[in-house]
Amino acid sequence: MSTTLLSALRETLGERGMITDPAEKAPYCVDWRKKYVGDTLAVCLPSSALEVAALVRQCAEFNTAIVPQGGNTGMSGAATPDSSGKQIVVSMKRLNRVRAVDTANYSITVEAGVILQTLQDEAAKHDRLFPLAIGSQGSCMIGGNLASNAGGTAVLRYGNARELCLGIEAVLPNGEIVNALQGLRKNNVGYSLRDLLIGSEGTLGIITAATMKLFPRPKAQVTAWIALESMDDAIALFQVAFAKLGAMLTAFELIHPLGLEMAERSDAVKSFPLPRDSANWFVLMEASDGESEAHATAAIEVMLGEEIEAGRILDVAVAGTMAQSQSMWAIREAISVAQSMVEGPHIKHDISVPISRFAEFHRVTFAALSERYSGIRVNCFGHIGDGNLHYNVFAPLASDQASFGNVESEAINRIVHDRVVEFGGSISAEHGIGQLRRDELAHYGDPASMQAMRAIKQALDPKGLFNPGKVI
Ligand code: FAD
Ligand code: MLT
Ligand code: ZN
Repeated sequence: MSTTLLSALRETLGERGMITDPAEKAPYCVDWRKKYVGDTLAVCLPSSALEVAALVRQCAEFNTAIVPQGGNTGMSGAATPDSSGKQIVVSMKRLNRVRAVDTANYSITVEAGVILQTLQDEAAKHDRLFPLAIGSQGSCMIGGNLASNAGGTAVLRYGNARELCLGIEAVLPNGEIVNALQGLRKNNVGYSLRDLLIGSEGTLGIITAATMKLFPRPKAQVTAWIALESMDDAIALFQVAFAKLGAMLTAFELIHPLGLEMAERSDAVKSFPLPRDSANWFVLMEASDGESEAHATAAIEVMLGEEIEAGRILDVAVAGTMAQSQSMWAIREAISVAQSMVEGPHIKHDISVPISRFAEFHRVTFAALSERYSGIRVNCFGHIGDGNLHYNVFAPLASDQASFGNVESEAINRIVHDRVVEFGGSISAEHGIGQLRRDELAHYGDPASMQAMRAIKQALDPKGLFNPGKVI
């Protein structure tokens, strides 16, 4: 049977569109964190929406499951096939053309396999900004960003992937192509398939292209590294910054010294704008301005000066050059890589809680974790301006990190996620459900919403062939 499906797929995609060699398939079968390892019958690399539609129909004919894959940088194991070796990975790598740029409409239409950084560069060539910004932007793809509704560091000002998308083209599990690539900001014609597919993690269809919003390019960006006594102070500073800078405030990221220690140990970071042990918390703040560098710097310096005088800030370093700003951002981005690649397996949480309640949430949760596991470490960092923090739990220093993670992850998830729910939060803010949080969603999901999700899945994918084992 497999031979017949493979030969049908080869007929559709040609030699360049298929990978069956085990060594070449291997990188497509493991997730970025190397937590999930699967196998695949073949990796298909279609180069057009028509090829995607044809391969979807062929897989349906042979009852073969499909795992869509973009840059494979996801944090929830959502793009990894299972270990049966029977599923087909559909990589979007070759669907990577920029189809159109409409500068007057502030929109760009790209295929799903366009790398995020390429999209940003293409926008810049046209004197426009594409604002989605995440640490993996050099390898993640716009289709993957949409399928996981990625967030990142500029959500505060520009919104997440969903809010940046005007239209999509996608192949549904029945092989039909949805053509909804309009670059319209207003379009009320019934149910939004676009919004259904965004965040569906490859379980309802394959996005083949998207029309995304563009913005005017700011004239200036000012970055500041701020030392603070407490998370309460960080949240209070956010209130002031948001009120005084308004739409100029683009990023407001919280960083814990443990993350800085990890980044330093990883060798990616040699020095810090302020000594890394000089405060309990740091904030990396950025403001962008359509007027001028001088206007932006003055607004930030006045605001920060008042905060220092009021004693709410311990210290601050404002980047004087683009190079200094980039090195501040490099430290921020190094944290995520260091904790996975150098520190090893940890128990990941990607949570959101109303920002007004985050400090209390952290006090209660950290106390509960510490009571049960003395010396437990939490690298709590991320997008505090969006009410989204990565609450990553590491074993106490003396214990073995890997076995701690394996044995304790369920108990630790319960402590963290029970508190998240208690504080009116979400167990997945931006990384999605995938396979990592599938059981957590089953445990905490609102019953009516879960039932509706299952009904939608059944209606669109009655054979359950699209990314089985993920999300629901
Ligand atoms: P993949 O990992 O390949 O796939 C993700 C999901 O989308 C899977 O379910 C897959 O089946 C599905 N999929 C992929 N392409 C398609 C398609 N064309 N049609 C349908 N389904 C598809 N995420 C954030 O949100 N914010 C961050 O700040 C952030 N920082 C990160 C930093 C680092 C260093 C790394 C490694 C990751 C980070 N991530 C972050 C997670 C990840 O990069 C993003 O979720 C990204 O959007 C995934 O894109 P991808 O192309 O790699 O998708
Ligand atoms: C980030 O914001 O750097 C990633 O989304 C977080 C993570 O690696 O947990
Ligand atoms: Zn993040």
